[in-house]
Amino acid sequence: MIKKKFFITIEGCDGSGKTTHCLFLKKYIKQKCYDVMLTREPGGTICSEVIRKILLDPKFNLVPLTELFLYEAARAQHVKEVIIPSLNLNKVVICDRFFDTTIAYQGYGRKLDLKFIDKLNSIASYGIIPDLTIYFDIESSYGIDIARKSNSKYKNFGDRMERESIEFYNNVRKGYLINAKKNSKRIKIVKVKKTIVSTQKLVKKIVDMVL
Ligand code: TMP
Repeated sequence: MIKKKFFITIEGCDGSGKTTHCLFLKKYIKQKCYDVMLTREPGGTICSEVIRKILLDPKFNLVPLTELFLYEAARAQHVKEVIIPSLNLNKVVICDRFFDTTIAYQGYGRKLDLKFIDKLNSIASYGIIPDLTIYFDIESSYGIDIARKSNSKYKNFGDRMERESIEFYNNVRKGYLINAKKNSKRIKIVKVKKTIVSTQKLVKKIVDMVL
């Protein structure tokens, strides 16, 4: 078993298929004999999963600042309790969403101040920065349609976030692309292909370059 401290985050709009790709990535990295673990945001700890439930429940009409603080609170707990200890054990950690989501969704989607978000992101992450981020890019209206239909809990309507307008999701996507351009060394863009296998090929190529 190869021990290597390496932090990978996976990003994309709802419906981009990133959760499926996370599972594939974990298997692929394991095949390469690395000690690997997969976690997610919001979530990954008992407390952060409870916060996740509040964040995604359509019955809560959260104002943007409450939403932002809850995502950051879930992150602070998750980073301290799971991510940092796993990295300290020299594991490859894959996280389904991380602070780039907050920039795209709360920054470009909700229009909250980007500098303020950067500050909170850095505090809640205890200063850790992913070694690699893979962003799955998909046309927003197509992605959100898939997300709503495949959400087993809130079928056809989607969770609180997935109920947002196409305009919101267009802004989120724009935010992701601007942020990826600004951090082009760390963030690699994968255009989602028609078949899972052809998208996975692109993922393998990126991972093979770093691991
Ligand atoms: P998921 O269902 O892809 O795990 O993500 C849950 C939702 O939370 C998704 O719509 C994106 C949103 N989200 C934010 O808006 N800001 C954040 O910081 C995070 C981590 C997720």
